[in-house]
Amino acid sequence: MCGIFGIAAFNEPRTRDQVIKTLVDALQLLEYRGYDSAGIAVDYKDTNLVYKTVGEVSRLRELSQSTAPVAQRADGEVTIDTDLNERLQNYTGIAHTRWATHGTPSVVNSHPVPSSPTGDFLVVHNGIITNHEALRAELEASGHVFTGDTDTETIAKLFQHYYGQMCHRDGEPEFMSLTTAVMARLSGQYAILVKSSHYPDQLIAVKHKSPLVLGLSFPEDGSGKNKEYTAASLDPFDSQSTLSSSNATPQGAEDTAASDTPGPQTTTGEVVLQTTAAVGTRVACPSRATYYFSSDVVALTPFTTHTTYLEDGDVVAILPGGTFSLSHVSQRRMHELRVAMGFQDPADPLPPATPAPTRKFTQLALSVDEIKKGSHRTFMEKEIFEQPGAAQSALFSRVDSNQRRIRLGGIAEHMDELLQCRRVFLVGCGTSYHAGMMAETVIERLCGYSVTSVLASHFIDCLPHVGPGDMCVFISQSGSTADTIAALEYANKCDALTVGIVNTVGSSIYRQTDCGVHINAGYEASVCSTKAYTCQCVSLLMIALCIHFEQRLRQNQPVSDLYDEIFDGIITLPDALSEALDESKHIHEIAKKISAASSCLVLGRGFSYSVAREGALKIKEVSYIHAEGIAAGELKHGTLALVCDDIPLVFVAPCDRYMPKMQNAVAQCTARRTDKAKDGVVIITDDTAWVSAGFKSVIKTPRVHEMVQPLVSCVPLQLLALYLCEERGFDVDKPRNLAKSVTVE
Ligand code: AGP
Ligand code: GLU
Repeated sequence: MCGIFGIAAFNEPRTRDQVIKTLVDALQLLEYRGYDSAGIAVDYKDTNLVYKTVGEVSRLRELSQSTAPVAQRADGEVTIDTDLNERLQNYTGIAHTRWATHGTPSVVNSHPVPSSPTGDFLVVHNGIITNHEALRAELEASGHVFTGDTDTETIAKLFQHYYGQMCHRDGEPEFMSLTTAVMARLSGQYAILVKSSHYPDQLIAVKHKSPLVLGLSFPEDGSGKNKEYTAASLDPFDSQSTLSSSNATPQGAEDTAASDTPGPQTTTGEVVLQTTAAVGTRVACPSRATYYFSSDVVALTPFTTHTTYLEDGDVVAILPGGTFSLSHVSQRRMHELRVAMGFQDPADPLPPATPAPTRKFTQLALSVDEIKKGSHRTFMEKEIFEQPGAAQSALFSRVDSNQRRIRLGGIAEHMDELLQCRRVFLVGCGTSYHAGMMAETVIERLCGYSVTSVLASHFIDCLPHVGPGDMCVFISQSGSTADTIAALEYANKCDALTVGIVNTVGSSIYRQTDCGVHINAGYEASVCSTKAYTCQCVSLLMIALCIHFEQRLRQNQPVSDLYDEIFDGIITLPDALSEALDESKHIHEIAKKISAASSCLVLGRGFSYSVAREGALKIKEVSYIHAEGIAAGELKHGTLALVCDDIPLVFVAPCDRYMPKMQNAVAQCTARRTDKAKDGVVIITDDTAWVSAGFKSVIKTPRVHEMVQPLVSCVPLQLLALYLCEERGFDVDKPRNLAKSVTVE
């Protein structure tokens, strides 16, 4: 749930001030992932300068510009008057924007977390160490003194602890082997970056169940210009690579090492990363090289376009001189290490050998312009207004208007399996779950499957019987939501067909599903998801159309009328979304009237029920007004008790087959209000009859097919949430207690 960033540069001289600015700039891009505190550490002689603050990254920027930093020195923490203009030939730096899981937001708990008062090891961490209490007790018993409350501090202390032990036994260990020993003790989820005064010009990065991306940049010697690297030439293990790999295993050795046991090992015991090309334990880089690490590719965008997503168990060590080593410590290897260290019963079953992973560096598709707000005040506003274009991108090149069919390259190869499925589970969290709810009936009606949308957290709690013949669809903007990943891992284990609906190419869900559809929404920075929701729904509808077409084709049957109606509905969707956005000023006026409320109800039925749920989520997420999305048919079964003048009611009431029943629901509610002006009753509709009936707060939407209408009806609710938040004076892009990507369960 946080942002981590790291840099290691060789022969790319920068002033210390510039390095600090780079770290803070990168954190600013990651701030949407967590913003309760922030910190950075950068080299200073034989030690590190550390700046930390509670609050936003802008405070860290001010602090680093105005205050003499604190150096973690052998003689204790002292404020030093350092020369920020000193030019550093080589340097490493780490940075963190925190979203606390353990311990309140405070300077002492913020990262980088030091291992000791002298800060021998400094750690930034994204995730949760689930065995931190046991580790803390064990380390305290060995004499280590903890200063903060974070689980992360146990990682830092473990580095300190094993460093001492290993030095005493065999002399100073390699940073990599020390890291492996620490990893063997950790349970939970972690992406960590570690720098140490014992290992100048070195940086360690470890990924286990929290996202971590590595970016590389090798400016051409002499020219000062970035050399264009193709993905192939950038693969450091490619024998044709411009990088020379020292100590590389001959290409043929790869086959024998295709499983991770025994696998070639370094002297320190890690299993070396396997790639489709040659395998190298250490790769010597050009004389000028810069490495970047981040929990999110967005922070790498200004610096490099060549990135790779690390896999669970990967350890990257940047070594003096710019050499780097990329290792993979498998679960099996971890088990062996634990047995060797005496922390695992040798009789415990050994995890199965897994195929050795491969890594490919690919070109980053994100542009720097995409990650800026442009002329908009907030990311949420920008992304709401981007929806017509985003929907167009989701449809782009997939709609074959001549043949009136949808072509989805990401699922084409699995069409036989998709057609054999009988049940579909649509799995996601929050807004992504609502996208599943929205598509449930359409998939069922068009494809004849039995479809259930289910919360990822519920899926992993209940572990439904799934297996071959079941299609489990995992919907996630980020592709890195922990609950959704856990559900996916379970479905994979059960041999269900897994399909990913993601916005982030290369993310965990993208990589771990059998097939999928990229929703093409573009970068979404706002914690409050809007355009991704629209594109998720469009993608799910496209899957339904695609499968229906194929079913009918194989049966030599024409497509159904419903197919034609939904097909027409989605190709006109971008225009309909634009028209819905035209109501923004009117919606702002309505928001002003109801912004003082402390609670509100959003009601819908049939196809609009999912919209009511999504709209209520938007409102509570950013405006902090308690909002409930209610199935209008359920009113009399309890919720009607809440209806009174103080609670605004928002009805999603398009002119669909449920209209007469919605009119009833509205009548039942207004009969219980004395509010004759009906200001507190908001109707979102494509039917002007509501205005004639005396309702003043009617938000008009264009009319599309009733099963596509939820996409259009949702736009006014997104705008209402935005304006309610602004009217109440909150920062819409930084909702309280929430962060964009929920990478911990
Ligand atoms: C949406 O406004 C929320 N911030 C949240 O519900 C989000 O949709 C959920 O956490 C799932 O995220 P994902 O799509 O990245 O998996
Ligand atoms: N668990 C760590 C902490 O509470 C890291 C949280 C995060 O991912 O920001 O400090």
